[in-house]
Amino acid sequence: ADEARQTHFDAVIDADGKIEPRDWMPDAYRKTLVRQISQHAHSEVVGMLPEGNWISRAPSLKRKTILIAKVQDEAGHGLYLYSAAETLGTSRDQMLEGLHSGKAKYSSIFNYPTLNWADVGVIGWLVDGAAIMNQIPLCRCSYGPYARAMIRVCKEESFHQRQGYEGLLVMMQRGTAEQKAMVQDAVNRTWWKCLAMFGPPDADSPNSAQGMRWGIKRISNDDLRQKFVDATVPQAEVLGVTLPDPDLKWNEARGHHDYGQIDWDEFWATVNGHGPCNKERLATRVKAHEQGRWVRDAALAHAAKQQQRQQK
Ligand code: 3HC
Repeated sequence: ADEARQTHFDAVIDADGKIEPRDWMPDAYRKTLVRQISQHAHSEVVGMLPEGNWISRAPSLKRKTILIAKVQDEAGHGLYLYSAAETLGTSRDQMLEGLHSGKAKYSSIFNYPTLNWADVGVIGWLVDGAAIMNQIPLCRCSYGPYARAMIRVCKEESFHQRQGYEGLLVMMQRGTAEQKAMVQDAVNRTWWKCLAMFGPPDADSPNSAQGMRWGIKRISNDDLRQKFVDATVPQAEVLGVTLPDPDLKWNEARGHHDYGQIDWDEFWATVNGHGPCNKERLATRVKAHEQGRWVRDAALAHAAKQQQRQQK
């Protein structure tokens, strides 16, 4: 019977159809999706921390309001994604246990510090810009709940990218020399880390071939990285900042920009827990979870009471 189910599953994938939670799916497909969606959810949740540090230090009421809304959106993205992963039969508690014990991965980019206000703008422009580049193709992912969650996530992410860019434009066009230098400094520190967000080169990416075959991944790590570089260069020109790569130049023959070498040793060290802020991020996350325990307990007690009342 499994053979017939596998044939049906393959036919749906080949026809670019959607797999839904109640459909039969190979164990490895389920496992890969739980891995990717939970890592993605963790990234959204840990991604609140570097910017959250600036809520109390935003330079104006307007910027503070925008930043609070944006950080809240990231929490919402985490929640949709945990829900999408739960449809595959893994509980949120299990996923959170993976994150809090340091076993689960989340995006490397959130393990670097945010040293000045321009980092908030650069996170919007470059980090969210890279995230959108990676996430638009996920709206066509073969697993229905993930694909549908990504549509709303991408719309909100696009607003985040624009608010970051606009914040930087104000600093570059109307700011003091110090403010302009802050923007350039933040770009210098973040550029290479953003290129690494797309994951290892295709040749060193163990999950890519199968992910592409299953229609989970639609565009490869390197192709997305290239698209991001090509899209960002003209934006940097308008902004008036330099991207910190002496090898970055237009290649007429390829019709793309060439760019320099990413430091993959540094990337893997960060992914494996040894980046500058890994410990701090996890500790903050675990503390927030513990401090929220009474809210979860109260919600559960309330739900139990409601249920009891309904049964009477
Ligand atoms: N940071 C941390 N780990 C990374 C990574 C990164 N930037 N890039 C790759 N990895 C990990 C992979 O998770 C994988 O680990 P595992 O096998 O132990 O699970 C390993 O490195 C090998 O990489 P592969 O290329 O083989 O893995 P994938 O095929 O899963 O591709 C991916 C990696 C492109 C990140 C893919 O998982 C993906 O598209 N994920 C969904 C999007 C996502 O998670 N984005 C994170 C950023 S979201 C965000 O930034 C929030 C926003 O609000 C700012």
